[in-house]
Amino acid sequence: MLSERIGRISPSATLAMTAKAAELRAAGKPVINLSVGEPDFPTPENIRLAGKRAIDEGHTRYTPGGGTLELKKAVVEKLSRDNDLHYDTSQILISCGGKHSLYNACQVLFQSGDEVIIFSPYWVSFPDFVSVTGAKPVFVITDPAQQFEPVMDDLKAKITSRTKGIIINSPSNPTGGVWSDEAVLKVLEIAEKADAWVFSDECYEQLTYDRTYISTAMLGENTKKVLTFQSCSKTYAMTGWRIGYTAGNEKVIKAMEKLQGQSTSCPNSIAQVAAIEALTGDQSEVAKMRDIFKKRRDYIVNRLNEMKDVHCGTPGGAFYVFPDFSSLMGSNKKIQSSNDLSMYLLEQKAVVTVAGKAFGSDGNIRFSYAASDEDLKRAMDLVEETLTELE
Ligand SMILES: Cc1ncc(COP(=O)(O)O)c(C=O)c1O
Repeated sequence: MLSERIGRISPSATLAMTAKAAELRAAGKPVINLSVGEPDFPTPENIRLAGKRAIDEGHTRYTPGGGTLELKKAVVEKLSRDNDLHYDTSQILISCGGKHSLYNACQVLFQSGDEVIIFSPYWVSFPDFVSVTGAKPVFVITDPAQQFEPVMDDLKAKITSRTKGIIINSPSNPTGGVWSDEAVLKVLEIAEKADAWVFSDECYEQLTYDRTYISTAMLGENTKKVLTFQSCSKTYAMTGWRIGYTAGNEKVIKAMEKLQGQSTSCPNSIAQVAAIEALTGDQSEVAKMRDIFKKRRDYIVNRLNEMKDVHCGTPGGAFYVFPDFSSLMGSNKKIQSSNDLSMYLLEQKAVVTVAGKAFGSDGNIRFSYAASDEDLKRAMDLVEETLTELE
């Protein structure tokens, strides 16, 4: 009955865990949800007020399919201010979230016969975005000791005449890894030789803790085939407003706009007005959130590394840690996989996490630290307790 295309993709594992947490909570269980992919802060007040004003002022109709000119101008201003990237509004597309932008770009560039490089561990949606187009995701291994930077020899070995794209996501979901500029440059050089498109998913760009973030398109000599993807979701705690955007090649942007016009018509008109305030208004809340996340990162990394047989590097960004629990797993042990461990934590301790398998790494578990200090402390106590029980 259903198309072959839809059979190529799986439901989002992260959204599935969020639903499970809600189910448990509804049943009255004191759940600690560390599976979330969104800040635990409210959208800043200036942005909320802009949204309310937008309704009262009548911004409640269809907008141009690729977003309003005013918001595109705000994106141009933001990219220039924060990223030193200089685009024209004709090179900007506003979508219903960064996810929608990434999906559209895959749809307009990839097809059957193409190969697209994805670095593993990867964000759950990347392989599905690629597979649904008929192209083949090709996985390249990364080095956990080095912010999950690519193993360059593996990357070189995986490039073929069919390589049409390479997807970079630094800071990364699920690892939090932030690649060095050198690593990004090497990938850009390899991509240029292969004449491949580079997708740079920068939705966590404002959440880098140990150094200044530089956009991929700012690195390298020739970045004409780099598409930059950003979002209001994580930076401004605006996940539900659904505004993300792409910057890059005008022809690709036009094609994405055409596709979007035939699917969602346009991004939400009220959210677009609020996004202008987010991008061009007071940015102080962003710095405050970043400071809080950094403290939490340091806390959770320390706690995990104090636990026997757990290894956790210090991720440079986002709000995830991706510790390695593989020494706990084995065919002769109670826990055989990341799914088993994640389920044990859920069922026995009411701590919700996401198993590493969903991200292509079965020895790991993803913890989001977009949670209160109390929840993080309690969750770490429970993980510690779990490890003792499983010894
Ligand atoms: C790596 C990555 N890219 C893109 C997105 C999409 O975010 P949004 O569609 O809310 O902009 C997410 C959200 O979790 C993400 O983790």
